[in-house]
Amino acid sequence: MKKKLLVLTSGGDSPGLNAGVRAVVRSGYYHDVEIFGCHDGYLGLIKKEIFPMAITDVANTIQRGGTLLRTKRVPEFHQPEVRQQCIQFLHQQEIDFLVTLGGDGTFRGAFLLEKEGGPKVIGIPGSIDNDVVGSDYAIGYDTARNTALQAIDKIRDTAASHSRYFLVETMGRNSGFLALDVAIGGGAEFALIPEFPISIEQLAEKINHLRRTKQSLIIVVAEAGQPGRSLAMAEKLQILTAFEYRVCVLGHTQRGGSPTALDRVTASYMGNMAVESLLKGKSSCMVAIQKGQYTLAPFPDPNKPARRLIDDNLIKLMDILSI
Ligand code: F6P
Repeated sequence: MKKKLLVLTSGGDSPGLNAGVRAVVRSGYYHDVEIFGCHDGYLGLIKKEIFPMAITDVANTIQRGGTLLRTKRVPEFHQPEVRQQCIQFLHQQEIDFLVTLGGDGTFRGAFLLEKEGGPKVIGIPGSIDNDVVGSDYAIGYDTARNTALQAIDKIRDTAASHSRYFLVETMGRNSGFLALDVAIGGGAEFALIPEFPISIEQLAEKINHLRRTKQSLIIVVAEAGQPGRSLAMAEKLQILTAFEYRVCVLGHTQRGGSPTALDRVTASYMGNMAVESLLKGKSSCMVAIQKGQYTLAPFPDPNKPARRLIDDNLIKLMDILSI
């Protein structure tokens, strides 16, 4: 009898998820596996709504942002009894394998689902924050940083023309990967990231120091769990430096758009690897990139909250290049 595999996307979307889903579906068919999908992440399981997927369902999707399977953050899935109902349902449907695309929260659910008796699971990391512990890369990050970079380039034009100071806020809930890369790539003067917090007074002092040499300034601010925080920062800086600031919050523009080549290829590779690994008997892990190599890595341990570390060399580079 053919094996049955269910694929879903969960948590915040990121460009390249469609390329990943497409790879899972196509690789599944290639290896004679029956493929099913469900909408809205784990909510589809809770609602007991899964559907067969044909090869043609993923045609013309590799270049599209968002996720054709739709996605959700589903707090109910934290409840063991809700997961048990999903497990019963998946047994009734004779689902052997599950592939979940998403971030840490998605993987926590996936890990528990298999541990509590559900199908064998492999995760594929997708997050514009690039913060999945255990993988050096998560799908969507490259597209998001290029989107943010394009915005900064445009802001720089007007900032230079008007000799203005700008705060540009990127996403990044607990991590500054996006903000730091974008600051370096966009030639910004400062990157404010949650890993290295500095006080507004310290920042004002640094700005005052740079003002002797810089006509315009770009300060990249990671959202850090407080979307729009750069607006209040601008007001305080205005008082402390006696200078006017303009603010641009990039927000969800960074989550959409056509994926870059890097995201399409990474997602395609990871999708195929997830399917082939499940068929080889591997499970309860995620496909990851470590030191430039694709590998299988344990899911991030939900009982030991950890954080991917920012490369200190990049922080230093930022300091050197923004004098
Ligand atoms: O997916 C990660 C992320 O985009 C974070 O950078 C951001 O803080 C958060 O999701 C926003 O979530 P939501 O789309 O639910 O507002």
